[in-house]
Amino acid sequence: ATLTIEGKKMKDISDKLVGVFFEDISYAADGGLYAELVQNRDFEYSSSDRGEWNATTSWRAASGKINVLTDNPISKNNPHYVAVTSDTLYNSGWDGIRVMKGAKYDFSFYVRMAQGKGKRFIVKLVDNGREIASATVTVKQGKTSEWTKYDAVLTASEDAEKAELAVVALKDDEAHLDMISLFPQDTFNGRKNGLRKDLAQTIADLHPKFIRFPGGCMSHGDGLGNIYHWNHTVGPLYDRVPDRNIWRYHQTRGLGFYEYFQFCEDIQAEPLPVLAAGVPCQNSGADSDGYGGQQGGIPMEDMPAYIEEILNMIEWANGDPATSKWARMRADAGHPAPFNLKYIGIGNEDIISTVFEERCLMICKAIKERYPEITVCGTVGPFHAPSSDYIEGWKFANENRNVIDMVDEHYYESVGWFLNNARYYDNYDRKAPKVYLGEYAARTGKGGLDCALAEAFYLCNIERNADVVEMTSYAPLLSKNGHSNWSPDMIYFDNGNITLTPSYQTQRLFSTYYGNKYITSSLKPASGNSDTLAVNRIAASVVMDKWGKVFLKVVNVLPVELSLDIDAKNLPYVSRMRYEGISGKPGQVSLKPHTGEYKVDLGGKFHITLPPYSFRVIQM
Ligand code: AHR
Repeated sequence: ATLTIEGKKMKDISDKLVGVFFEDISYAADGGLYAELVQNRDFEYSSSDRGEWNATTSWRAASGKINVLTDNPISKNNPHYVAVTSDTLYNSGWDGIRVMKGAKYDFSFYVRMAQGKGKRFIVKLVDNGREIASATVTVKQGKTSEWTKYDAVLTASEDAEKAELAVVALKDDEAHLDMISLFPQDTFNGRKNGLRKDLAQTIADLHPKFIRFPGGCMSHGDGLGNIYHWNHTVGPLYDRVPDRNIWRYHQTRGLGFYEYFQFCEDIQAEPLPVLAAGVPCQNSGADSDGYGGQQGGIPMEDMPAYIEEILNMIEWANGDPATSKWARMRADAGHPAPFNLKYIGIGNEDIISTVFEERCLMICKAIKERYPEITVCGTVGPFHAPSSDYIEGWKFANENRNVIDMVDEHYYESVGWFLNNARYYDNYDRKAPKVYLGEYAARTGKGGLDCALAEAFYLCNIERNADVVEMTSYAPLLSKNGHSNWSPDMIYFDNGNITLTPSYQTQRLFSTYYGNKYITSSLKPASGNSDTLAVNRIAASVVMDKWGKVFLKVVNVLPVELSLDIDAKNLPYVSRMRYEGISGKPGQVSLKPHTGEYKVDLGGKFHITLPPYSFRVIQM
């Protein structure tokens, strides 16, 4: 085949094209990215999270009995705590607590003495009954009848995969305990209440241009009572409002909006919070037991308060602490400077009903009225063209383009679908709201190289249309082994290991080698036309970044080597071109990227080959 690169024909494209979609699904947050090592630290697990769970899940007591109380709790949002006299409480963490020899761990808990006396606690890490770390916490007599925070540092003397935390209460006075917590000191960027370093670094290595959070379906929940309220996730940890996770587990909200925004800032990604459009998943009115309720949304009389809540979030993120109480909360939490929020998503693949439209429009209008500079992203439902929801969703967005700048499209399809829809965005109306392809993945088999190549093939065509599609994010991002709600995912992990899928490499290569100009190119089959079909299995895209570096991406989904003549007229000539890429067998689920160099003759024309089933980014 021949690739002709028209060095002088360029168009402006989005330089925010590849970001990440973070949803608390498959234990992505608690037990995952959030570095807390104690499970159910607040004793708020309940059967509504999962049938067999209760306030003592993942805890046990040496005495065999854990006494859970609720009177006069540390916060009305955190009503359960435990009472101990002389006993030892053990927490088994998330599939065990993994500790490293020599590493330091921050232990903390809140204590209230029932009779206002003093008390001593020994805090330990125990591996198979063997003590591998220990510290003493002394509660001095005095104002001990109020909830007070105590802490200690534990240093592990051994590695352990499945240690337990033991809290030994000495002497006979009754103590009330809550928010029993253990964090590695070595979190990402050394943040307190921080993120697991290796997982956060894995995300940072994608160089995402934005992070969407907190979902997905998590954002709108499975009933009115399960809608995600951002203001429930900020402030002191004991005061945050935990909730049932739509994916059938528990959210502590320890990883809340402050932590999400901070992570975005740490890795220089734009924050893209997505909040419910006043309706829960599928507009269901069911309150606590999932799908199947009446079509419904937040009652109209409650919408003004809900809208104010969303506006408060923008104020919290961007406002001036001197004049705004919401911005002051942000400053008090440690971030006086604004977070510089530019985008907000309203709705997540909602059914496009009147209930949805009325509420969504009220919210989008209110945002644009007060914050015209914020880019508002709507939704066109869960399906792609030509579904009726998608058509309705686009009609609604188009009619309201004065307040909806962009819409979120979602589709999970087969490898074949992605290969056959290279022209999906070619005829989109350039004047309509822009597209955020917020969730997509090729879902064939276990998500192997074939999926990653189909995604790369499709992304080449999205780059060609990146004047329409301004943002994309593969979904879902994270999945903890043994706790998966979805397949495939981009990154699999357990407490100590991280497995990067071929799709991770596709995303990393596209986001690392991004551009803000698209250079027109055309692929033609060799004369004789024997490879006409092959052109439908190869894709190429050429972009230039703002420093003038040119990147050529080539995808070969054929089972044979690709021989490509390149005519790069008008581009500066080079004699060597470095490349980075992936190749292997179609179903391969784990692989290492490869690098190499093409030596080319000086002049505008040269020849390269690509192995069967491969994707390479060539730095021209
Ligand atoms: O990515 C998993 C789920 O897929 C998201 O929560 C939802 O938006 C979509 O249906």
